[in-house]
Amino acid sequence: MRVLGIETSCDDTAAAVYDDRLGLLAHRLFSQIDVHQDYGGIVPELAARDHIRKLLPLVDAVLRESESAPAQMGGIAYTAGPGLIGALLVGASVGRSLAWAWGVPAVGVHHMEAHLLAPMLEERPPPVPFVALLVSGGHTLLVEVERLGRYRILGDTLDDAVGEAFDKTAKLLGLRYPGGPAIAAAAADGNPRRFRFPRPMVNRPGLDFSFSGLKTYALTTVREHGLDRQTVADIACAFQEAAVDTLVIKARRALEQGGHRRLVVAGGVGANRLLRERLGRVGKDIDAEVYFPRPEFCTDNGAMIAYAGWARLRAGERQSLAIDVHPRWALDTVPPID
Ligand code: KG4
Ligand code: ZN
Repeated sequence: MRVLGIETSCDDTAAAVYDDRLGLLAHRLFSQIDVHQDYGGIVPELAARDHIRKLLPLVDAVLRESESAPAQMGGIAYTAGPGLIGALLVGASVGRSLAWAWGVPAVGVHHMEAHLLAPMLEERPPPVPFVALLVSGGHTLLVEVERLGRYRILGDTLDDAVGEAFDKTAKLLGLRYPGGPAIAAAAADGNPRRFRFPRPMVNRPGLDFSFSGLKTYALTTVREHGLDRQTVADIACAFQEAAVDTLVIKARRALEQGGHRRLVVAGGVGANRLLRERLGRVGKDIDAEVYFPRPEFCTDNGAMIAYAGWARLRAGERQSLAIDVHPRWALDTVPPID
């Protein structure tokens, strides 16, 4: 079965074609970074309007690149949530309308489930069961996955998501949006011994996170030491160390507590080099396999949406024809796949 995937939940417009016999045939993305740059964060209305402009040309491009005629399509998948309502509605409207025109089924998929499934597109896909660490701009989750479609939340953030903490800290350091890559780049010139940030909540039992304190700590450090180039690099370095260390400690705890041997890491922050290195090391330490998507499939993309939609369509899932989105949608309430 061949599935068109559409992603418009936030600030990336993306489309992809996945075929279960031939693999991923095409994927394209248009990033709205330039649209939102001057505002230091995403402006929802501008995001929705830009998705309207970019989505159909991207769909056209992936259909051409994958040499897919509408008659070859088995279905369409689009992100139905969580995300920005106006942005989600663009993908849902286009996805449902094309499906209607082509006479194929469409499924609205959960954005975080799609992130979680992204490593399935790689050469060495993770078998279930596993623990997933989902780290993005909106979420920080540790999830136990016994079977695909059944998700038990082990840990969540009590305040900011880790990607959000990267973005907010970057902003107060005067770095570009999005903050994750900007902090990682600045940190490369930083002295890791100059500042030491706290590791929030690691001394408490449990698997929840809290990241808003790190941003406050960064602010206090800026007030005390200023914003010269070296200080920015040193703060970026200390922040990244603390954020990564916190994720690594909790991911290790989740694996050990549940007796799990496999960890899947996904979501935008999963592109972070330091996080990938440190989790790789933990895997060796405790004899667990660690699976990541390639960095470009850690951040938002259409390929993961096509794959998640394919998994549901293949299992026979059918949804009503209503154009329905869920800006807030808990991962552990998605229907099972089967
Ligand atoms: O998954 P994603 O593309 O979108 C959401 O679903 O939120 O994640 C975006 C988040 C942003 O907060 C961005 O700053 C962060 O992922 N990010 C990174 C890196 N690349 C993206 N954070 C740390 N290091 C990176 N290399
Ligand atoms: Zn995402």
